[in-house]
Amino acid sequence: MSHWKIKQAPVIQNEITVPGDKSISHRAVILAGLSNGTCVINGFLPSEDCMCTANAMRALGVKIEQPQPTTLIVHGKRRVLTAPEAPIDCGNSGTTMRLLAGVLAAQPFQSTLTGDPSLSRRPMKRVMDPLSQMGATFSAQGEKGTPPLVINGGKLQPIHYNLPMASAQVKSAILLAGMFTKGKTSVTEPAQSRNHTERMMSYFLVHPKVDELTVSINGEQTPESRDFTVPGDISSAAFWLAAAAAQPGSHLIVRDVGLNETRTGVLGVLIRMGAQVREVVEEVEDGEVRGSVEIKGARLKGTMICGKEIPNVIDEIPILAVAGALSHGKTIIADAKELRVKETDRIAAIAKNLKLMGAHVTEREDGLEIEGGFPLRGAKLPSYGDHRIAMAFAIAGLFAEGETVIEDVECVATSYPNFHETLESILKTRREPEIPVIGALPAEESEA
Ligand code: S3P
Repeated sequence: MSHWKIKQAPVIQNEITVPGDKSISHRAVILAGLSNGTCVINGFLPSEDCMCTANAMRALGVKIEQPQPTTLIVHGKRRVLTAPEAPIDCGNSGTTMRLLAGVLAAQPFQSTLTGDPSLSRRPMKRVMDPLSQMGATFSAQGEKGTPPLVINGGKLQPIHYNLPMASAQVKSAILLAGMFTKGKTSVTEPAQSRNHTERMMSYFLVHPKVDELTVSINGEQTPESRDFTVPGDISSAAFWLAAAAAQPGSHLIVRDVGLNETRTGVLGVLIRMGAQVREVVEEVEDGEVRGSVEIKGARLKGTMICGKEIPNVIDEIPILAVAGALSHGKTIIADAKELRVKETDRIAAIAKNLKLMGAHVTEREDGLEIEGGFPLRGAKLPSYGDHRIAMAFAIAGLFAEGETVIEDVECVATSYPNFHETLESILKTRREPEIPVIGALPAEESEA
């Protein structure tokens, strides 16, 4: 098992790009594989999670070439997949398993989806319920409706489904299954979750309709093959943005990053905490918004993160909790019970690791209360096999006295394989970004 040793080095002055968006990469390879021709996907994230989806599509008969790690040439199968010869391994990836469950529910063959020990503990009833209503038969072989999942697919009927939780994965599973039905399938969610599936379905000309929190799709449609470029992942950028935000004197520009409004909640939170942030949309390409983010650090103050904002920052809560510990005053994270069923129980993992670093934190059933501003000290921290816990606490280590050791960091390969190289290069090549995104940032807007 490998580990990282992190030393105090908080000031960040740099200009970077981040690898392709994970959520968009999964969807690009699935929709391209179902399309009616050849699609070139550039900017693909070649991480373990996204390769699980690509390999799953290969196992279902889709020819996929990968001339470079970030380029896939996908030869679409016009929605006609073939039965896999063996169980499909989804690794650590909940997105792979839940989105594929939607596709496989509509296939006239049996398939089995397996995962690693973490994925094998995650709830799948949330996708099995609606897809069973549509006509598929599932057997969850783990305890409590958990993987492996055996799926007997077939002819599906359209449904309307009210999601009990805001989940882009469940919404996407239903919409993907809906593409194979005769008639209109619709999903209403209690709060807006990321909308990449809807946007990409539009780009691939499958024409979903969006009416506030309801998305509907007419069945019997085949995606139209088109090339696609994946923007950088704002969730990966979030680690560097938070690191820069929490230190006066830091100045960072992240270029060519996805700025889809259902994903940029992290910027709003950092602004509320006192950072100076500029977001510049440069292109609305391929149905996704991309551009640059410029951030200047400040003495941050605590904030409240709750309610409808939660789905928009769900993957950024570990790093925002670290930012909370580095801020003055209280940071409250509430309505975030979903964090308990992510790659690990993230509420417990954040609370334990922050405490090990000397932070003052109280764990709540649906979130955390962090009394910020107490100095962090280096410690030996488990990753809990969770990529975002490992990366968030590597950033915390930049602010801690003494050495921080992050254990079992292999998990980072699921979403950001070169995170540590980027960390080293950011610290080594510290320089003011030369061309600010637009003009100069206004002089101190924050309390600093
Ligand atoms: C994802 C949706 C979110 C997110 C996950 C990726 C997606 O999960 O936490 O990392 O790509 O659809 P839920 O949809 O379960 O909230």
